[in-house]
Amino acid sequence: MQNFYYDIPTKVAFGKGEIQKLPEFVKEFGTKVLIVYGGGSIKRTGLYDTVVNLFDENGISHVELSGVEPNPRVTTVKKGVDLCKEHDVQVILPIGGGSTIDCAKVIAAAYYYDGEPWDLVCDFSQAKETLPLISVLTLAATGSEMDLFAVISNEETKDKIGIGSSLVYPKYSILDPEYTYSVPRYQTAAGTADIMAHIFEVYFCGITGTFMQDRIMEALLKTCVHYGPIACEEPENYDARANLMWTSSWAINGMISCGKSAAWPIHAMEHQLSAYYDVTHGHGLAILIPVWMKHILNDETVDIFVNYGINVFGIDQTLDKMEIAQQAITKTKGVFDAMGLTDTLRSIGIENQDNFEVMAEKALGDGLDDYIVPLTKEDIISIYKECF
Ligand code: NZQ
Ligand code: ZN
Repeated sequence: MQNFYYDIPTKVAFGKGEIQKLPEFVKEFGTKVLIVYGGGSIKRTGLYDTVVNLFDENGISHVELSGVEPNPRVTTVKKGVDLCKEHDVQVILPIGGGSTIDCAKVIAAAYYYDGEPWDLVCDFSQAKETLPLISVLTLAATGSEMDLFAVISNEETKDKIGIGSSLVYPKYSILDPEYTYSVPRYQTAAGTADIMAHIFEVYFCGITGTFMQDRIMEALLKTCVHYGPIACEEPENYDARANLMWTSSWAINGMISCGKSAAWPIHAMEHQLSAYYDVTHGHGLAILIPVWMKHILNDETVDIFVNYGINVFGIDQTLDKMEIAQQAITKTKGVFDAMGLTDTLRSIGIENQDNFEVMAEKALGDGLDDYIVPLTKEDIISIYKECF
């Protein structure tokens, strides 16, 4: 286990009706709020009205940034910064999934940055201060509600860049599983695949001596394997939604990665897919994962797969190690299949392989040559091709 510094500053209010605490949380920082949201799901579910009524009753004023795209664009960040400056906003309130929260995180930092927001995304060490941010989560997936990351896309340059800074942790996050009842089956499935991917990135990194974290990760993975398909079939199953929501936060809030560190190869490869083809993040991951797993399975990594197969799927431990590993990969794909996620890049609208080379080059920039099974440009191209 490596040395680590552990600090998760986000306070979480979890459960039915916790939205009632929002005014109290906001007033800790001010009374002028920028509400940030996406394409309108919060209006259809009534959450928007609930929040605005709470604000009206409690003397909190607000302005709005709507239309945050899935795979949020830097142009939208810029609009948010302009609104904050024009209206002297004191608190940022994203209501939505990871895209909305990520967009709001970068708005919060770019508000204090003199240059273009994209320059800040490219070198986030220039961020010195942020507006306080409170999130209301409506989709269990990215963990942005309790982590220090944000991922922003630039359509012009076809780049999708992730930043990581303790400056952008939400101050508070409100997690009411009932707000995820309306998440469509497809987004539920993609979100579950994303949660699993966050755990895989850490679980398979090869750093040993982390028995406690490894067992916790298996429990989180079991939760996804069990409840992902249930939430797809029964969208209003509270236990399924609640367990997935809390797992999304714990998969990436820094706890499981204590004492571990590594590049994130699946994400490095997927972010290129979304940058070039605007695909749904979790679906891109679900296509890549089984192929990537086959690629990294070797004599050095087989024991990790064996633990995974036995502890998550209950595979017969008397079988040959490689057989257990192969079955674990097949079962992983089976979970994605059961949730209705298709398994080829072609099926998500990628029509040819023209960009695979440049995408592989960009993915490599995320340090993939320094992984337990180092990935070369040729390896990444061959993974994309096998997924095609
Ligand atoms: O925009 P609205 O109308 O709200 O609809 C959204 C959107 O179309 C819909 N949705 C969300 N909550 C809903 C709902 N529909 C009905 N009922 C609800 N309650 O779902 C669609 C997808 O939303 P989005 O926010 O894009 O999904 P997700 O949470 O998966 O976020 C994906 C983004 O996060 C980044 C991804 O790369 C991608 O850009 N990531 C962020 C991370 C982080 N901050 O730590 C890590 C991740 O690995 C990931 O890279
Ligand atoms: Zn992810």
